[in-house]
Amino acid sequence: MSYNLLKGKRGIIFGALDANSIAWKTAERVHEEGGTFVLTNAPIAMRMGQINELAEKTGSQIIPADATSEEDLQNLVEQSMEILGGKIDFVLHSIGMSVNVRKGRAYTDQKYDWTQKGTDVSAMSFHKVMQTLYKADAMSEWGSIVALTYMAAQRVFPDYNDMADNKAYLESVARSFGYFFGRDKKVRVNTISQSPTPTTAGQGVKGFDGFIAYADKMSPLGNATALDCANYTVTLFSDLTKRVTLQNLYNDGGFSNMGVSDAVMEAFVDKQ
Ligand SMILES: NC(=O)c1ccc[n+]([C@@H]2O[C@H](COP(=O)([O-])OP(=O)(O)OC[C@H]3O[C@@H](n4cnc5c(N)ncnc54)[C@H](O)[C@@H]3O)[C@@H](O)[C@H]2O)c1
Repeated sequence: MSYNLLKGKRGIIFGALDANSIAWKTAERVHEEGGTFVLTNAPIAMRMGQINELAEKTGSQIIPADATSEEDLQNLVEQSMEILGGKIDFVLHSIGMSVNVRKGRAYTDQKYDWTQKGTDVSAMSFHKVMQTLYKADAMSEWGSIVALTYMAAQRVFPDYNDMADNKAYLESVARSFGYFFGRDKKVRVNTISQSPTPTTAGQGVKGFDGFIAYADKMSPLGNATALDCANYTVTLFSDLTKRVTLQNLYNDGGFSNMGVSDAVMEAFVDKQ
């Protein structure tokens, strides 16, 4: 169902790789709500992905940008304002990657140049995106910036590896930059902490199937899907959440406040 919540709003959406991507679902929902936007992803990902199909469906243009490159980001922001015909109202940062996770390297055996690469892509890129927007004065007043995160920033999930540290960094950047963006430009900055979701990035985590099933059994409302995340993001881009900022917001079916659930207890009860 559409509520026209984003009519007349312009944005940039990072990270739509394929139809499972949270950013893909968000682009579809933002389009349904009347928003217009530029799609962007790393040049290398776009050759593999099906982003053209999404662009056609949503009437969007695609501007390739490596989110770790300041030059690419400056070009992206300039071109987006030209294409969309004005300043930017919303930005979704939906980017994550750990080389250590990809190559099966344990948290206790990091290859630090890989760790650094992951931090740059997954966390520092959020600072770079915001600094580029801030310096270009590209955000409209009462605009909204959202990045996606996971609860491993607060609690231990061993196989989430160095991505846990990257997410803690990302959430801190949201608060720190959010202060300056709020004070100087009336722009809000938040992170959404999402349930495990079957996407390319998600499924890269070791033992993902057990991980997602456990979270589902622990959550009174079950895991939040990519579409649930897209819907939540739409509300944060809309004018209905104008003074929500510097927050890490859980979209996880209640998982983050659970100790144990009946369903999980049952697995430990002696059944003889
Ligand atoms: N899937 C989950 O279980 C889950 C849970 C919580 C949070 N998240 C977060 O959601 C976000 C989106 O991930 P997803 O699950 O939709 O997976 P995804 O694999 O579909 O998206 C990750 C995106 O990051 C992009 N990317 C990687 N390096 C880049 C770079 N240098 N420049 C620009 N883009 C780059 C990829 O091309 C891809 O589009 C990530 O921040 C992820 O950590 C995912």
